Amino acid sequence: MERIGILTGGGDCPGLNPVIRAVVRKGLLEGYEFVGIKNGWKGLVQNDTMPLNIDSVSGILPRGGTILGTSRTNPYKKEGDVQKVVDNFKKIGLTSLVAIGGEDTLGVAAKLTKDGIPNIVGVPKTIDNDLSCTDYTFGFDTALNIATECIDRLHTTAESHHRIMVVEIMGRHAGWIALEAGIAGGADVILIPEVPIDMDEVCEIIKKRHGRGKTFSIVAVAEGAQFKDKNLILQDQKLDAFGHVRLGGIGENLAKEIEKRTGYETRVSVLGHIQRGGSPTAFDRVLGTRFGVKAIELIKTKHFGKMVALSANKIIEVPLQDAVKELKTVDKEFYDVAKVFFG
Ligand code: F6P
Repeated sequence: MERIGILTGGGDCPGLNPVIRAVVRKGLLEGYEFVGIKNGWKGLVQNDTMPLNIDSVSGILPRGGTILGTSRTNPYKKEGDVQKVVDNFKKIGLTSLVAIGGEDTLGVAAKLTKDGIPNIVGVPKTIDNDLSCTDYTFGFDTALNIATECIDRLHTTAESHHRIMVVEIMGRHAGWIALEAGIAGGADVILIPEVPIDMDEVCEIIKKRHGRGKTFSIVAVAEGAQFKDKNLILQDQKLDAFGHVRLGGIGENLAKEIEKRTGYETRVSVLGHIQRGGSPTAFDRVLGTRFGVKAIELIKTKHFGKMVALSANKIIEVPLQDAVKELKTVDKEFYDVAKVFFG
């Protein structure tokens, strides 16, 4: 009998469990058996697995996080780990693997298809929505809705206290959550990693708004946004296992700078991991389910080295290599829509 391994890697994300459930339910119908690989690539390095059957996926559809656990372990970062992954794949008796992750996890998957495990199918996950070749990754919609609700809540307190509220939103290289939550929540300024922050411009927008009688403003900033003026940068330089700088701090700096330059009382709210926690939206449950079913179809037809993707509301397959080549960042046209409402 063919045995499929499933792993979830990188930052967790609402919708992982619906994908796992869909892969297992569809796969069981097709006669496959499953092994859960615990904690992403780390589980294959350490041969750490768990049983995965119809009972283990029962009741997980609305649950956030991942029943398999996750990590940011990258086997290409440590000598000998890739060989361990390949050896354990064989030892566990796997015939194929479903890797559910973002650019890092799927980047490893793409490399492994050339380095000893050709039978891999990828499923695109990340709240950041920055993977190429797919209109959406699952998890983004949930994070977007949480961030939008937070902006709504910040509005009422900002208005009562006549304050500027800076809201720091996740988004490492791409500002999709900040952009869309900012538009949906009616933020007065939206700052994203794709466009360096010009403090003169930001303060001018706020002053103009206050000039027409408004006594509060909401500034949405993606955590990966950078100041144009390099003297203002102050970020935690600790690295995670994939070698990325641990972000955080932009909101605090921005708030200080706005208060200093405008004289308006300014506070900051960092949404952080709240955006990744909790139950997935209906959209993410459905998208994750469609992705999971398609992943099994790819395995059944031996379309390996592919990633499932959403394109014009159809679930398609794309080469894994193409999906991880470059990130999908916010385009100017979309940002220009947001700018109409600045100030
Ligand atoms: O990639 C998803 C993401 O949530 C980013 O938006 C954020 O920068 C990062 O993960 C945070 O990672 P960690 O949970 O390791 O702090």
